[in-house]
Amino acid sequence: MKERKAIKDRFRDKVAIITGGSSGIGKAALEEICKEGAAAIFTGTRDTGREIEKQMTAAGFRVGSCQGDMANEKFCRDVVALTLQKFGKVNYLFNNAFSFTAKALDATSADWERIWLAPWRLRAWGRWWPSRCASRAGDRL
Ligand SMILES: NC(=O)c1ccc[n+]([C@@H]2O[C@H](COP(=O)([O-])OP(=O)(O)OC[C@H]3O[C@@H](n4cnc5c(N)ncnc54)[C@H](OP(=O)(O)O)[C@@H]3O)[C@@H](O)[C@H]2O)c1
Repeated sequence: MKERKAIKDRFRDKVAIITGGSSGIGKAALEEICKEGAAAIFTGTRDTGREIEKQMTAAGFRVGSCQGDMANEKFCRDVVALTLQKFGKVNYLFNNAFSFTAKALDATSADWERIWLAPWRLRAWGRWWPSRCASRAGDRL
């Protein structure tokens, strides 16, 4: 597959929040936007974000990880507050956090349960809370 070429400095001085940035599509988006000059805070439910933060920081990118559940209002506020504290503003929000499987017929019952039995709070609010909190970032929440 042809590799995408980063556009240098396209997002210079911009700050992004990427929910679910610790794996899959979110992690790919995190890496690309940082290569193009942005700083970013990303989330995930597991502690894998710390290692990603460590490696990306060592590579010269401005990133921060935040472990927690996007269905939790307080956590969403904390993510935006951390972003303001670390980088001073929020320009972009990528509301991506949600479990997914692309295994099709190879998916296990556990895979489907993780996805379809995901807490309704995440389905309903996992995108609304971060949007609301980020939109108020200009008023410092
Ligand atoms: N892959 C596809 O073909 C496809 C197709 C259609 C739509 N999508 C959508 O694209 C998005 C990403 O999919 P993906 O394939 O990249 O999934 P993925 O590899 O399973 O990644 C999901 C990410 O979301 C995080 N996450 C899950 N629940 C969370 C929660 N409650 N709070 C905070 N973070 C949470 C995960 O963190 P942890 O791993 O730490 O839990 C992980 O970083 C999802 O919204 C999915 O529905 C994907």
